[in-house]
Amino acid sequence: MLKYIATFILIGGLATLQNVSAEPVEIDELKDNMAKLADKLPPAAKKQVSYKKDIQPYFEKSCVNCHGPKKKPKGKYRIDTRELALKGGSEGVSIIPGKSKESPFSYYITDQVIDYEMPPTSKREKYPMPTKEQIGLILAWIDQGLKYDN
Ligand code: HEC
Repeated sequence: MLKYIATFILIGGLATLQNVSAEPVEIDELKDNMAKLADKLPPAAKKQVSYKKDIQPYFEKSCVNCHGPKKKPKGKYRIDTRELALKGGSEGVSIIPGKSKESPFSYYITDQVIDYEMPPTSKREKYPMPTKEQIGLILAWIDQGLKYDN
């Protein structure tokens, strides 16, 4: 019996080390783990996304107060114009248009990067997290080229 328990613990330990279960990672480990973490992203929406209808209302509710023109933007990041969203923040570029699975942004909004859960976990009463459907729309919006004009 003890032998079984020991084996079990050992396998569990190894699994954690290799991150086979794709647990959230530290920001400096994100790049190396992206392929695995990508499996946890919900599917991108299939439809043609409209920024004004599908994306902007959510961003205004949950992101723009911290990442907009009002005050000093958090993480030096603004999301309210295409140019600024593409420029990135203190961690560099987070969106690669056309490539949601290679964009750090996708992992922030799905709580897969420790201390970069967006919106921040402690503020979700005021700034609700995206639903699975909203995440799908945001991923499709990135894949479709990050349009702000439709
Ligand atoms: C209550 C304020 C707040 C809200 C709301 C918020 N964020 Fe953030 N965001 C932060 C802070 C603070 C950081 C910097 C994190 C750090 O340095 O640990 C950050 C960092 C980021 C970054 C990385 C910027 C960089 O390069 O460092 C991105 C991208 C981001 N947020 C996107 C979003 C999105 C998308 C939303 C809405 C779904 C959102 N945030 C909502 C506070 C907020």
